[in-house]
Amino acid sequence: MNEYITLKLTNTYTNDELYSAINILESSGIEVNIDTSAIELNFDSVNMKMLEKKQTNPIIEKTVQELYKIKTFVSANGRVVFKNYNKDVKVKNKKENNKKRLGFESFKKDYPTINNILNEEYVNKIISGDSLELLKKFPDNCIDVIITSPPYNFGIDYHNSIDTSLWTSYFDKLFLIFNECIRIIKSGGRIIVNIQPMFSDYIPSHHIISNYFIQSGMLWKGEIIWEKNNYNCKYCTWGSWKSPSSPYLKYSWEFIEVFCKNILKKEGNKANIDIDGEEFKKWVYAKWAIAPERKMKKYNHDAMFPEELVRRLVKLFSYKNDIILDPFNGVGTTTKIAYELGRKYIGIDISDEYCKTAIRRIEEIGNQL
Ligand SMILES: C[S@@+](CC[C@H](N)C(=O)[O-])C[C@H]1O[C@@H](n2cnc3c(N)ncnc32)[C@H](O)[C@@H]1O
Repeated sequence: MNEYITLKLTNTYTNDELYSAINILESSGIEVNIDTSAIELNFDSVNMKMLEKKQTNPIIEKTVQELYKIKTFVSANGRVVFKNYNKDVKVKNKKENNKKRLGFESFKKDYPTINNILNEEYVNKIISGDSLELLKKFPDNCIDVIITSPPYNFGIDYHNSIDTSLWTSYFDKLFLIFNECIRIIKSGGRIIVNIQPMFSDYIPSHHIISNYFIQSGMLWKGEIIWEKNNYNCKYCTWGSWKSPSSPYLKYSWEFIEVFCKNILKKEGNKANIDIDGEEFKKWVYAKWAIAPERKMKKYNHDAMFPEELVRRLVKLFSYKNDIILDPFNGVGTTTKIAYELGRKYIGIDISDEYCKTAIRRIEEIGNQL
């Protein structure tokens, strides 16, 4: 974790200069304490662009000069993160410690490493049916990447499936499908799951699902916070208003959990990489602010994820020509984006209606190409 840095400036400034500087410093991310002799600045990351524009104020000018004396690196979200290298906690014997902990190998299970070719009849197809039944027909180790968002058990009105079950039955069925996903994903392949926990039931589905994958011996590659900037509960839902007895925590984000089979590294042909430097720098910073999908009415599906979310996952975690599967494909956001980005796609959904829409969305791109 980055620790806070403190800088002290001698206070030789007028009150007017001080008042206008405080606002600017605070909005750039710096906490300010002032007494008659000194101005104390506490910060870890700072909006330098903003400070640089306000250097007509001598305190800001001095602050900018002092900040540039500190070694810096620029974080992906455009703010300059300052790191006090001298104060870094140095962990000794890193290699030996890693050996003792065994790292991600601790939970790893050795799955077969030979990858198989999937029969062409399933490739570039949208298939209507129950994933549990359909995936059993796929051979082991034949899919490069799964990107999916399972039904959340929220009671959403899907065309052809019940979305309110006892939580234990819900997870039992989901894990049977995920067992198949683990079996059919290639060695070195990835399973990427978008999860919105049911906060109001106090069921942390993202932890339960992650724990299932880890206990199954898959390697946890990481977690992306999908910041939607919209609250999933009413403004007036507070739990115990102004009382610590049971405040209700509000969330405006969902989770994306990424798991790998056997190894974290996915081999591929360099010519099939299509992510550029700017995208890579931005997207490995694992908090993505993306607005929720706005076309749900148009496609008549209440739980779509946005195209931009899938676009980033596809480019960051797969190569062109990879086979991408979504076993809960809905109206086909995953399959549309996979096709658009030159990947092979397979989408399965239990609703015939949704599958027809998914096919239409791909045909629409086909017409534009
Ligand atoms: C959260 S939605 C996915 C929406 C999708 N990401 C999109 O953007 O359109 C979950 C989907 O799972 C489907 N579903 C539920 N049970 C299924 C099963 N056993 N097999 C296949 N699909 C299923 C539902 O019909 C629903 O469309």
